[in-house]
Amino acid sequence: MTVHFIGAGPGAADLLTLRGRDLIAASPVCLYAGSLVPEGVLAHCPTGCRIVNTAPMSLDEIVAEIQAAHAAGQDVARLHSGDLSVWSAMGEQLRRLRDLGIPYDVTPGVPSFAAAAAALGAELTLPGLAQSVVLTRTSGRASPMPEGESLEAFARTGATLAIHLSVHVLGDVVARLLPHYGPDCPVAVVFRASWPEERVLRATLATLDVSVGAGERTALILIGRALAQEGFAESRLYAGDYDRRYRPLGSAPRFPETGQ
Ligand SMILES: C[S@@+](CC[C@H](N)C(=O)[O-])C[C@H]1O[C@@H](n2cnc3c(N)ncnc32)[C@H](O)[C@@H]1O
Repeated sequence: MTVHFIGAGPGAADLLTLRGRDLIAASPVCLYAGSLVPEGVLAHCPTGCRIVNTAPMSLDEIVAEIQAAHAAGQDVARLHSGDLSVWSAMGEQLRRLRDLGIPYDVTPGVPSFAAAAAALGAELTLPGLAQSVVLTRTSGRASPMPEGESLEAFARTGATLAIHLSVHVLGDVVARLLPHYGPDCPVAVVFRASWPEERVLRATLATLDVSVGAGERTALILIGRALAQEGFAESRLYAGDYDRRYRPLGSAPRFPETGQ
């Protein structure tokens, strides 16, 4: 018996890995984390599967469900939205399972920041503009930010910011970032990336209508110079005069067998 933690993706049912789909189809129990896991993903559950929405449950209740499946020798598909490596509450479940000696494995999913970038048709790391993406959030009632992880601290790096769980405080986010990125810095808000009701809003920090944050909560705020998609250099990687292992310019071997 194994608990399969599976990233269910950002929303579109076909943005699920083949491995995730097959594990769901082979597991007689499916625990899924609320409304962000789309019905199309749950459609892969086998006939007769015990399907439980864990949104209203406590951690103790979720672990009790897993223990019952373990006692019955039944595999569990444990679904969380996007990828499991960020804001999935997987860590605390894995710790409980380690203590109980219950086996588990982890299958990654498409994170919402990648789906939002796809909706924008944007590369978030452009030469000379940004070479880092910070996945972050603002403080929530249940999750205060650790000291040092402030928006201002990340903004000082000039990296592209992908701000989660914060659209309801959009005005505050913009006010805090404006002094660092400047009024003409591009910003995008992507609501429900990859869902049929996906909505994309592009503006600058000065022109963004922050009142759009008042409704739909499933949204990502992306900020940074890379979003302009212009004013950047081409990468050296594909430059015709760039000598590299996979496209050497001369015949003499100049690259060691290992390394980049
Ligand atoms: C609890 S976090 C889960 C993040 C998820 N594990 C991931 O990999 O993206 C929920 C937040 O992720 C963002 N999010 C999740 N799905 C989204 C989507 N389809 N479009 C835009 N933002 C999304 C929103 O900021 C939302 O408040």
